[in-house]
Amino acid sequence: MSSEDQHPDGAPRHDIAPEAAATGISKGLTHYGDRGFSLFLRKAFIKGAGYTDAALDRPVVGIVNTGSAYNPCHGNMPQLIDAVRRGIMLAGGLPMDFPTISVHESFSAPTSMYLRNLMSMDTEEMIRAQPMDAVVLIGGCDKTVPAQLMGAASAGIPAIQLITGSMLTGSHRGERVGACTDCRRYWGRFRAEEIDADEIADVNNQLVASVGTCSVMGTASTMACIAEALGMTVPGGASPPAVTADRIRVAEQTGEQAVRMARERLTIDRILTPAAFENAMRVLLAIGGSTNGIVHLAAIAGRMGYDIDLAALDRMGRDTPVLLDLKPSGDHYMEDFHHAGGMATLLRELKPLLHLDALTVTGRTLGEEIERAGPGFAQDVVRPRAHPIYPQGGIAVLRGNLAPGGAIIKQSAADPRLMEHAGRAVVFEDAEDLANRIDRDDLDVTADDILVLKRIGPKGAPGMPEAGYIPIPRKLARAGVKDIVRISDGRMSGTAFGTIVLHVTPEAAVGGPLAHVRDGDRISLSVASRTLHLDVSDAELARRAAERPVVEPTAERGYRKLFLSAVNQADQGVDFDFLRAAHTRGKVPNSGG
Ligand code: FES
Repeated sequence: MSSEDQHPDGAPRHDIAPEAAATGISKGLTHYGDRGFSLFLRKAFIKGAGYTDAALDRPVVGIVNTGSAYNPCHGNMPQLIDAVRRGIMLAGGLPMDFPTISVHESFSAPTSMYLRNLMSMDTEEMIRAQPMDAVVLIGGCDKTVPAQLMGAASAGIPAIQLITGSMLTGSHRGERVGACTDCRRYWGRFRAEEIDADEIADVNNQLVASVGTCSVMGTASTMACIAEALGMTVPGGASPPAVTADRIRVAEQTGEQAVRMARERLTIDRILTPAAFENAMRVLLAIGGSTNGIVHLAAIAGRMGYDIDLAALDRMGRDTPVLLDLKPSGDHYMEDFHHAGGMATLLRELKPLLHLDALTVTGRTLGEEIERAGPGFAQDVVRPRAHPIYPQGGIAVLRGNLAPGGAIIKQSAADPRLMEHAGRAVVFEDAEDLANRIDRDDLDVTADDILVLKRIGPKGAPGMPEAGYIPIPRKLARAGVKDIVRISDGRMSGTAFGTIVLHVTPEAAVGGPLAHVRDGDRISLSVASRTLHLDVSDAELARRAAERPVVEPTAERGYRKLFLSAVNQADQGVDFDFLRAAHTRGKVPNSGG
């Protein structure tokens, strides 16, 4: 054998599998122009960390480590990684954890949504760049799970989601509290001068009682439930709180399952099918999930080449009641949901509405997993379909001349008195205008008016911040007003409540009709007929557009430039246009729901 037929370490060169067939540590070799040398060098470096050839022969499972001192929602990351590694080793794999960026809601300026796509690109590219046969995605805080699912969907290898888990609830003067519905409630009481500075400081110590994600049905809990409904977690993976033994056991099982997925080449495209997305839409409606959930689902589906059909989502909502009694639509917290059996209890109740043949990461179908979870037990967190906490799905989709591309309202968290309402527009041109004027005593506003906030959409702010929860003007709050109709092109935290119309598409910053609303215009909202109407003629809107043309925001350099040039609208998930799948495969659901 000539020296050219051998590896530098003496092994025959033909032992190097062709790139497409390579597995484990031999996958995705660095390009040095000599694949044998590339593997030789790679092994030399990893052996510097003390690995043996026997270890390096195993299937490699990557673990995405999103621990960060800035992200207390991921504060249990070391324990989770430990347990995932144990699971991988028990199943005969080789665990390799690696970092990606981590995004926390309160530590991300201007808003975490601005960074979600960056995190998804980081996730996708590091999965592609490094050798792994499967990947465990560990996320929890609002944007991290969607970012990871988007990135993994594009990377295409076997992937499994591990949720960090919810925080525990705290206690303020005998009242149970948890982030973040109670954060907003107490802050509203402070603004209305019902409680003083000492009490609000006490509350601040109790709202987040441990590491973990928000304890109500906010975006984090919503995405945890959606991940399980999509079949992307082990059964029961959504609900265990962050600091419990159950959460650690889920982590170990996730590691074990990842090795099986690697061996069986259970790639993500076999899990993220139209049936799985439709199941996730059902679950989003039935849990009274965050409105952000639909934006993230649209982005994840877009990575697989599917468009979420908002009209169909609305039709599905009419026969999908809200069953989960969690704040802000109900009374309980995530740990109660876990004690009530978690997602198995909900899915069992939703069974007639689900695609039971959808495959999950276990290699079994969703229907099989529901059966395996047993018959259930008496509990009061998941209602039977005959006695829902809200008769329709949590989210309704609105259309009209103010939102030709659609808008949404979380009807289960809205004031029933305001869901059929017409009123005078009180307009704020952007977030700064809002901050400057909302609390002024001379603001011309009554409880019957409709607050309109412009330029907080995907390009407007940019990043579509959760500023759609416009505060009640202080003078109305002081007078005891608890809700008022609010409309914007922004988002709202899933932990918020009120009669709030969001995601108005197209947004004001790209010249949508919202840009041309003026003080005193009349707006009609009818949730029953799913309409949002601006009582201004098309001719007048065109005249206003010509009078004050909209200039789209731009940036000189960096990520902001990329963001503003490539971000799409809310109905497409606020993803970058170049990150969507190259070919559109159809709508979800394709049957009209
Ligand atoms: Fe992380 Fe709420 S801030 S889940």
